[in-house]
Amino acid sequence: MPVRNWSGIAFELAKEGANVVVSDIDMSGCETVVKEIESLGAKGLAVKCDVSKKIEVDQMVKAAVDKFGSLDILVNNAGVYPLSRFWS
Ligand SMILES: NC(=O)c1ccc[n+]([C@@H]2O[C@H](COP(=O)([O-])OP(=O)(O)OC[C@H]3O[C@@H](n4cnc5c(N)ncnc54)[C@H](O)[C@@H]3O)[C@@H](O)[C@H]2O)c1
Repeated sequence: MPVRNWSGIAFELAKEGANVVVSDIDMSGCETVVKEIESLGAKGLAVKCDVSKKIEVDQMVKAAVDKFGSLDILVNNAGVYPLSRFWS
């Protein structure tokens, strides 16, 4: 099992040489993902962010640029994919 569902995206980017900011509203496991990114030879940073709040997105982008100098790739993967019955 992956540490987080989305961690494979972060690891593939790190393998290609990208430094990766991992961000989620739920930070459980994020520091573990950063350690794995660093074991792949890239740099990582974990930042808590609720993407529905502009101020938090601005702070996350600032943290990324402060640490790595620029933001070159953005993966918009946050959110939920609820399944529900057509007839409820
Ligand atoms: N699973 C599917 O079959 C499927 C299909 C089509 C599209 N998608 C889309 O792909 C993306 C990921 O889906 P998934 O199935 O991996 O979902 P998931 O529930 O496994 O992961 C979603 C992640 O988003 C985070 N998150 C939720 N609200 C957030 C917020 N406001 N700010 C920051 N992070 C937040 C959650 O903590 C979680 O880590 C979603 O945008 C979803 O709509 C999924």
